[in-house]
Amino acid sequence: MKEHAPRRPRVLVVDDNRGLVDNLAEVLERAGYAVAGAPSCAAALRAAADGFDVALVDLKLPDGDGTALAPQLKERSPDGEVVLLTGFATLESAMAAVRAGACAYLVKPCATPELLVTLEQAMRQVRLHAEKRELARKAAVAEKLAAVGTMTAGLSHEIRNPLNAAALQLSVLERRLRRLPQDAQGALLEPLLLVRDEIRRLDHVLEDFLQFARPRDFVPRAIDLPAVVARVLDLLGGEAQRRAIVVERDLARAEALPPVSGEEERLRQVLVNLTLNAFEATPDGGRVRVGCAPVEPDPARPGDRGGVALAIEDTGPGIPPAVRDRIFEPFFTTKAAGSGLGLSIVHAIVTQHGGAIVVEEGADGGARFVVTLPRAP
Ligand SMILES: Nc1ncnc2c1ncn2[C@@H]1O[C@H](COP(=O)(O)OP(=O)(O)OP(=O)(O)O)[C@@H](O)[C@H]1O
Ligand SMILES: [Mg+2]
Repeated sequence: MKEHAPRRPRVLVVDDNRGLVDNLAEVLERAGYAVAGAPSCAAALRAAADGFDVALVDLKLPDGDGTALAPQLKERSPDGEVVLLTGFATLESAMAAVRAGACAYLVKPCATPELLVTLEQAMRQVRLHAEKRELARKAAVAEKLAAVGTMTAGLSHEIRNPLNAAALQLSVLERRLRRLPQDAQGALLEPLLLVRDEIRRLDHVLEDFLQFARPRDFVPRAIDLPAVVARVLDLLGGEAQRRAIVVERDLARAEALPPVSGEEERLRQVLVNLTLNAFEATPDGGRVRVGCAPVEPDPARPGDRGGVALAIEDTGPGIPPAVRDRIFEPFFTTKAAGSGLGLSIVHAIVTQHGGAIVVEEGADGGARFVVTLPRAP
């Protein structure tokens, strides 16, 4: 797995002057931006479908007007910002920019420092939009949780007590059964063991509910993440074999990885949930790859210590964009027998660890979940 660098901000330059586009691309790419060019309104709308952070849009385009294009671009990338490029610094162009919903305008030819400062300001807006949306999403999840959480926790707790009592009585029964003559045992033992397994399963489900509704506090320790990954993958080896799924471990440079800060038991649960999801999405004979890579401290975030990125990638169908925004919501599932709690638990644990989780499209079109965990102090 390659090193996990922060994504480069994407700039879309919409101008029919090829020379200018090349010029801007050179300057911006040197400053760390990923640049795409579009010579017309139609080309810009097509390019915008892939998303952009900032669009630099010329006022006069061969097939239309930049002020009319700007709102259409923002519609396609709601977190994005538009900066208009004009030939003259007039009051009209300033007003046109404001009316079009652009966050700024630049007069051509623009000096590099001015261009970079304007883009940095636009990027600050873009990050704010993303943060706002993330906060709104978290609030929606929290609201849903608050509504069901308290009741679920109470109910789980109440169900668990009689369930434990039943399990205890069942083990008494089992002991007595095992004292019977061998030939009398079989027919009685079989249903008993079935009931015991079902009770265990129920207990696990309740544990999940409780864990999710009332996450316990924990004392973080320094954890060797690749070692945890290896243990979990060993544990799930049988399941992979049953599904004829090849599990690839990309832990090659594991010894170069810093320890992360956390609790092993919970991190193991993150891995189990993500790996089982990957197995369930992957057709028989497919492949699931699990890898760890170092994350360098982000200079844009003071105090960031860096850490380790854990990626789990499958060769399943991937996650459609319409579903992608909802997968971390509690009780969201597309599976007939799913509880829809797996990823919400993962999200809660990762957040509790001060980490982050994102989902992206894998190299083979499957899903790729990347969990970043902060380095232990
Ligand atoms: N690797 C993946 N590939 C494709 N879709 C996925 C993947 N992982 C999760 N999903 C989607 O996200 C949904 C939510 O996943 P989550 O783990 O929260 O619940 P679940 O797997 O449906 O149920 P449970 O984990 O409780 O058995 C899934 O139903 C599925 O639609
Ligand atoms: Mg799941």
